[in-house]
This record gives sequence, C-alpha cells and structure tokens, in this order.
Amino acid sequence: MRKVKIIKVSSKGSERIVKEYKQAPGPVPWPIVGNLALLARFEGPFEAFTELSKELGDIYSLTIGSIRCLVVSNLDLIKEVLNQNGKFFGGRPDFLRYHKLFGGDPLALCNWSPLQQKRRNLARSHCSPRDSSSHFQRMSDIGCLEITELMLKLKNEISKGHELDIKPLLQRTCANMFTHYMCSVRFDYEDKDFQKTVEYFDEIFWEINQGRVYDFFPALAPFFRKNITTMTKWSAFIRNFILKRIMHDRNRNIDMEEDEKDFTDVILKSLSEGENVTNDTILYMLEDFIGGHSAVGNLVLIALGHVAKNPLIGERIKEEADKISTIANRKVNLYDMDKMPYTMATISEVLRYSSSPIVPHVATEDAIISGYGVTKGTVVFINNFKLNTSSQLWTNPDIFDPERFLEQTSEIKSQKFLSKTKSNPRANPDMETVKDNLDNENLDTNMRLKANIPHFIPFSIGKRTCIGQNLLRGFAFILLANILQQYRRLLSIAFWLSTALPLTCFLRSTKYLLEISYPRSLRSALRVIIVVVALTGSSMCPNCREFLLPYFEEKSKEELLLDDIKSKVKVCEAEIEGLCKDLNAIKNDCKQLEEDYDFFDNEMPPLQDDTLECSSALEDKVKQLQAKTDSLFKSHKIIAEENKILSETLDYVSAEMQRQSVQYEQLSIENKNLQNVINQLNDMKLETGMKIVPSVNDLNNSRQDNIKQTINKTKRFKKQFDKQIDATDFADNRRKSEAGDECKNSKMGIVPPNDSKKLIQQKSKNMAKMRNGNGMILNIRFDK
Ligand code: HEM
Repeated sequence: MRKVKIIKVSSKGSERIVKEYKQAPGPVPWPIVGNLALLARFEGPFEAFTELSKELGDIYSLTIGSIRCLVVSNLDLIKEVLNQNGKFFGGRPDFLRYHKLFGGDPLALCNWSPLQQKRRNLARSHCSPRDSSSHFQRMSDIGCLEITELMLKLKNEISKGHELDIKPLLQRTCANMFTHYMCSVRFDYEDKDFQKTVEYFDEIFWEINQGRVYDFFPALAPFFRKNITTMTKWSAFIRNFILKRIMHDRNRNIDMEEDEKDFTDVILKSLSEGENVTNDTILYMLEDFIGGHSAVGNLVLIALGHVAKNPLIGERIKEEADKISTIANRKVNLYDMDKMPYTMATISEVLRYSSSPIVPHVATEDAIISGYGVTKGTVVFINNFKLNTSSQLWTNPDIFDPERFLEQTSEIKSQKFLSKTKSNPRANPDMETVKDNLDNENLDTNMRLKANIPHFIPFSIGKRTCIGQNLLRGFAFILLANILQQYRRLLSIAFWLSTALPLTCFLRSTKYLLEISYPRSLRSALRVIIVVVALTGSSMCPNCREFLLPYFEEKSKEELLLDDIKSKVKVCEAEIEGLCKDLNAIKNDCKQLEEDYDFFDNEMPPLQDDTLECSSALEDKVKQLQAKTDSLFKSHKIIAEENKILSETLDYVSAEMQRQSVQYEQLSIENKNLQNVINQLNDMKLETGMKIVPSVNDLNNSRQDNIKQTINKTKRFKKQFDKQIDATDFADNRRKSEAGDECKNSKMGIVPPNDSKKLIQQKSKNMAKMRNGNGMILNIRFDK
C-alpha cells in the first residue's frame, strides 16, 4: 500500500509536523492517464464509482491524469469528510470550464472563504424562508401566479392540436418563478431574449453536471475549442440579460433607507456595505441563484416521466390536490406541503432515483480520513449514488416508489378518513362538511412524510450543503401538484405526454458525443472519453435512461393507442383492486355492525326494564322533593312576611313608649300646677271651713301605681317579644339548613315547622290586635 506524507500544524500553531500515513487503497495508476482505462469499463461515473467500491471498499483512491482523487461511499465516511473535517474540504476543483461558465467566483464552485460565508448568510432568509415569514408567503403567491400562467399557456398550445414539447414552457415558468421571487421581474413567454436565456441556463445546468476530458487534461483544451466557445457564448448572453433586464434599473433605483423588498435589494445593499463585494459579485450571485430554476424544471419533468410510466402515481398526487381544491376551492399552494405527503414523497423519490449529483470537494489542507492520509489538492467525490441505490439501505431500490418516504401515523381518526377517501375520492360526502377547516384537518389519510432518513442526503451535508433545496422543494411541489390536478386530461392524451418529454433532456451526453468534433487521432480513444465526459457527475442516473427509452422510441399510432388503452386498463384494474379492498373493508365493518347489533338486541330488553324501574323510582323521589321544596318555600315566605310585621310593630311600640314618657313628663308638670291650684283652693277652703281637696299626689298615687304596673307589663311583654323573635329566627335558620341538607341528601325527611308555625301564628294574632287598637299597649296609651 502506498504512503503519503501529511503535514499537520502543532496545537500551538508554531510547529509543522510531518508524518507518513497510508493512502486509501486503490488501483495503481498508469503514467499520464492514471486510472482512466479502469473507469472505461463502466457505462458512467455512477456505476464506475459504485462498482469499484465493491472491490476496493467504501473509501478508495483513484488517479485521473495527474490528479489524485478519493471516492467516499458510505454515510459515516461522508460525515467524517464533510462534517468532522469540513474545514479541510471546503475547496472546489479549479476547472477551466468553471471559469468559462461562471466567470470569476461562482457561488457553487468557488473555494470556501469568508465572502462565501457572507453570501450564504445573505441568501438564507430568501432561499430557506420559514413558513411563518413574509418571504414564504411571497414565494407561495408567486408560485401560484406563475402556475396559472403556465396552465393558460398549456391550454392554448394543446388546443392547437399538435404535439407539444412541454420542457421549454415548464422551464420558462420556473425561470419566472425565480426572477419574480428574487428580483421582482417576470418576462413574457414570447420574449426572445428571455427564451434564449432560459435555454442557455438549461444547457449550462447540463454542462455543469458533466465531466470534460480537459478538466483533468488541460492540455487537451484546444481540441475542445467549439465546446468552450459555445459555453462562453451562453454565459455572456445570460450575464448581459441579467445586467440589462434586471440589474440596470435596480441599480439606479435602490433606496438604502427602505426595507429590502426582495433578494436583489438585499445583495445590492450589501454592495454598499461590504468591502469585498463588487458589482460582479452581485451579478454572479444573481446568475447562480436564477440558474437554479433549471434544476426545478428538470426535476418536475422527470417526475412527469415517472407519472407517464406509472399513472397510479399521478392518480395519488391528483387525489391529494383534488382534496385541497374541492375543500378550499383554490390552487394548491406552499402551505399545503404538509397536507400532501404523497406529492412530497414523489419529489424525494425523484431525487433519490434520478438525481445523484456528484459535486466534488477539494482538500485545502492535508487531512486524515478513516486513518488514511489525504493530501492537499485531492479531489474528493461523495458517492451519493451508492447511498441512493444500496439494497442494504432501501428495499427494492430499483423500483420508483414514493411510498418508501411515507410512514404511518397512529391516529385512528385519520385511518377511517383514508378508507373513505381511497374508495372514491371524488365522491366523498365528508369533504363538503369540512369546508372551512382545511388548516386543522389532517387531509390525508394516515400517512405522513418520514421526518428523517439519515442516509438520504441529496443536497449533501456540512457547510457547503445546497442553498437552494427549499426553493427547489417548494416550487417543484406547486408545479407538480397543480399540473397533475389536470391529470385526467393529461392521461387522455397520454401519448402527448409521452412525446412531450424530450429525449434530449435525458440523453444529452449522447448528443454531446455526437456534437463534439473530435480530432481523428482521438476517435480511437472514444470509449475512454465517453467515461470522462460523464465523470464528475450527472443529474441523470442510468435508471432514468432505462425507463425513459421505450417512451421515446418511434411508435405507430396503433401502438400508441394500444399503450394508452393499456395504461387506462391498468388504472381501471388498480381502481377495481382498490374498490375490492374497500368493499372487503365495508363487509368487515358490516359484519362488526351486525355483531354489535345482535349484542345490543340481547342486552336491550333487560336494560330497558332496569331503566324503567329506575326512572319511575327517580320520578317519585323527584316529586317528593319537589313537594317538600314547595312547602319550604311557602313557610319561608310566611316567616319573612311575619318577621316584617313583627319588626314594624316593634318600631311602633318603641315610638309609643317614647311618646308616653314625654306625656308623663308633661303630666308631672301639670300635676305640679294642679297641686298649686289645689293648695290655694284648700287654703281658701280652710278659711271657709270646707272639706280639703286631696292632694294631687294622693290622687295620682293610685293612678301612678296603675301606670307603673302597665309599664312593667309592657317591658315584660317586650322582653317576651324579643325572645320570641330570636326563637323564630333560630327555628327559621334551622329549617333553612335542614332544607339545604334535604336537597343534598334526598333520603333525609324534612322536619315540618309545626312548633314555629304555632308560635308565629300566636305572635301574628297579638300584632294584629295591637294594630287594631285592642292590644294591651294601646290600652295603656288611653288609660290616663
Ligand atoms: C435537483 C435539485 C438540486 C440538487 C439535487 C442539488 C444538490 C446540491 C448539492 C449536492 C450541492 C453540493 C453540496 C456540497 O458541496 O457538499 C449543491 C450546492 C449548491 N446548490 Fe444545489 N441542488 C439542487 C438545486 C438547487 C437550486 C434550485 C439552487 C438554487 C438556488 C441550488 C443552489 C446551490 C448552491 C448555491 C450550492 C453551492 C453551495 C456552496 O457551495 O456553498 N441548488 N446542491
């Protein structure tokens, strides 16, 4: 095994330590071409890297030309490279093509730097907006607006009745989604410059995912002049378009004080703040981000290809979209992503099945991976294709099956919903009833998207992970869901759909091989070049070609009709199968219901008897209680009235006593006067010898005795009266509390308030007498 010298800086930072490490296993390279001949055995880089990993293990070295490479093919190793040692692997290869395509400092293909960190930070809130943010809302609105435009265009084109290549239309829609969202500009579909820009972006998207022989053998570049000139033309055209049609006006109108309205504002403002940010930086950034639309369009096209092959997938997506539009009466928007798990699962499955980009990293320093020495400048290929197709990680990885990204939820409620909706989604009577509760309702079923599949990393991991992944998911979701809502119509022209997907979209490497003008001397090395051409990766995996080829073969009209009928028959069969399953489920439900019914039938009569008995006993009890409560209320009313009379009378008696004592005072004064008169009279009588008149005191003594007696009697009566009132209150309170207990406990009998009644009746009589002037107290008053 070969060894390499690894230079590490000591922890203090002052010393450089050189150590020898084993190099990862790998085939011995040939002079000049390295291991190129070995790679030529395989159809493409995906197979090459994956097949070699079976022989050489999950980490191995290769040499292409004079460039050292490392291929890493399992999750733990990928994590070790991109997470644990991310700071040593932030570089990108310095390919001539990248300079031609992207000018100075391409966002995705530059080395890691503080500027790159800043650009990523600037992009974050616009490229990965939170669903509660205004950016998310804007993205959703723009997505819906652009899909409406696409639908109108499609309708127009289809009505013309001839075959239609859907790709350019779809790509223009995606481009408008991106420019509208990022730069607040959209373009007419017929705008020739816009059309060209979109087309060139797609070419670049394809190109960037390819490998070219001169990437590894720069000396061969002159032989590829045509290819290089074409690339330069594309990127110059695009740059010019962005400058003139997007940045020009914006540059003039930018208001530094106002809030940024879109991503362009954000980066234009950063130009004025940042030291390293120039006009070109902004231009390249916009170019890179707008260019992302090509990935969205191609992903949706591939998804449509799978739908054309297996209409049931389209049915499932349509079923989910139908629910949204039936219930909420609107287009599918970004907020529906959680409610349409199957659609999201389809996007994930396209990413797994058809898109395993191999974006190379470069070691910027010497490093150690899994004990092997990796020298600075080594190109590291992250073999995502192996992760996506391993039969140890996925069941039946060769089958396109969105279902693998779904998992069961545990809610019984939603299970019932599924069985209803699956049987006939369009005739589900429950749908209308949940019209206004879309946000709260779990629309699907008992399925949800699996939260985390560790070995599924289509956008890579670490600090250079894809910035555009949420834009991709969001816009692809809106496109796929809304296009497939028209699925029935598309199916009826399945033949149109199958021809609508352009062969070149999937088999472009063949096209390039034919186009590139190879010098005669190199023709013999064609097989080697084929491998290199596709070496650094492709967005298309071989599986796609396999399944799409039959669709693009020349077919007779009859064959196409037959295909159409066959696919319809398949749909019908699947529907029948679904219906049979539902029928069985309904049968089982019925059986269960019958059993339940029998059970109730047997249990009901004795239950009814018991219930009747209980209810009549309860009725009696209630009646009794009612009667007792009535009588209590009556007594309470009487007592209240009597209390009122008694207190009035008491007031009256006290007033009377007051008045009498005043009278008594007056009487004493009068008596004094009278006594004086009597004294005079007696003096006169003594003189005349007449009998002396008795003194007033004598006269009054007997009367006063009477009065005193009466007053004492009154006092005694008052005392007695007070006592009676106390007694009445006490009895009243007691009755109240007993009545309360009575209500609480119906078994207790109510104590009849007989004693108190008598007492009160007696008191009432006395009071009545007093008020009528016959009472004792009133007698006193007049008994002068
Ligand atoms: C099928 C769709 C896509 C796939 C599978 C994909 C995948 C990837 C991968 C694997 C990387 C490299 C990560 C690494 O170096 O470890 C990457 C980087 C990147 N992607 Fe995507 N991507 C997609 C779509 C997009 C879109 C739509 C945008 C647009 C906005 C975008 C913008 C970027 C950028 C800017 C980087 C470079 C990040 C950096 O190097 O710091 N991608 N992507």
